[in-house]
Order: sequence, then structure tokens, then C-alpha cells
Amino acid sequence: MNNAIYPGSFDPITYGHIDIIERCSNIYDHLIVGVIQSNSPKKMLFNENERKNMIKTSISHLNNVEVKIFNTLLVDFASQEKCSIIIRGLRVLSDFEYEFKMALMNRNLNEKITTLFMMPHEKYTHVSSSLLKEVIYLGGNIDNYAPKEVIDNINKKINGK
Ligand code: COA
Repeated sequence: MNNAIYPGSFDPITYGHIDIIERCSNIYDHLIVGVIQSNSPKKMLFNENERKNMIKTSISHLNNVEVKIFNTLLVDFASQEKCSIIIRGLRVLSDFEYEFKMALMNRNLNEKITTLFMMPHEKYTHVSSSLLKEVIYLGGNIDNYAPKEVIDNINKKINGK
């Protein structure tokens, strides 16, 4: 089987992530979306089960994608899942340095695992989970950037609505 893992914090999932997941779902037989349980120093708005459930709801139209929580080294999670490909999204040039270091560290940790990069649709290149949370916090509209259920959940957490 031709498998891949798409890991991240997904706090929460956005249309940018979904764009990458849909592209991977067309290429690979089976895709595992790996949700990191905790990712210090990042402070999460949603716990891992909330993040996982929002992903599952947002990608329910894709039948070859599975969502799993992990709390180990990414390469160990990949090995455990018998998966040799890690997918990461590259949005803008500023992503490159961080991704480059992470890909090389992961390769040094386990040379059998390869990181591949994919570009989301250009309408999502400026999107990140933090930015969406900030816009909602300040009363802005993010309807074009995340599913309604996700927006409702952010609103509940941040604004108590
Ligand atoms: N569309 C929209 N936003 C995107 C995106 C896309 N296609 N791709 C990334 N982003 C955003 C995310 O929303 C996130 O935004 P935020 O910082 O505002 O929350 C940001 O880009 C980066 O997030 P993400 O892709 O989730 O990466 P991360 O840096 O939070 O997590 C892990 C990276 C989980 C893969 C990494 O920490 C990891 O592997 N941890 C396991 C432990 C380990 O092995 N460590 C050693 C690694 S070398």
C-alpha cells in the first residue's frame, strides 16, 4: 500500500489543511492525518480530541483518510504506522527554513522516512490557525478559511458564543 502521514497541530484545521489532505487523498491509497497531542511551547486552544473530531468532520467526504493522535517523535509514529512518507505543506518562503530543518532532523533520526512538500491552493497561502483565531477574537469574518463547525467552535472557546 502506498501510504502517507500528514502531521500537525491542527489547532484548529483550516481550509488550507483540507486542501493538502484532499490532494494527498488523490495521490495515496491511504493517508493518516497525525494530530500531535501536545506541542510545547505551543499553547493549544483545543485539546487533542477536539482537534481530531473537527478534522474527522471536515474530511468525512474522503474515505481513504484516517485521523490519529500521536505523542511521540514523528518518525516513530510513522514507523509504527508502517509509513515512509511524511507530507508537509509549504505556503510561503518563510515556512521553508523551519520545514528544511525539521525534514533533515527527521531524516537523521530515521533515514528510511522521507518528507515531501506540497503547496496548498494560493488562496490559502496566507492562512494559519493562529491568524484565524486572532481574527475571530477581534470580531472579523473567516468564513472563507475554515468550515462552519470549526468557526463555531472557535467562537465558543474564545468569545463564549
Ligand atoms: N494551511 C493553513 N495553515 C497551515 C498549513 C496549511 N496548508 N500548513 C501549516 N499551516 C499552519 C498551521 O495552522 C500552523 O499555524 P499556527 O502556528 O498559527 O498554529 C503552522 O502553519 C504550523 O503548524 P503545523 O503544520 O501544524 O506544524 P507544527 O509546527 O505546529 O507541528 C509537528 C509540527 C507536529 C509536525 C512537529 O512538531 C512534530 O513532528 N512533532 C513531533 C515531535 C517530533 O518528532 N519533533 C522533532 C521534529 S524534527
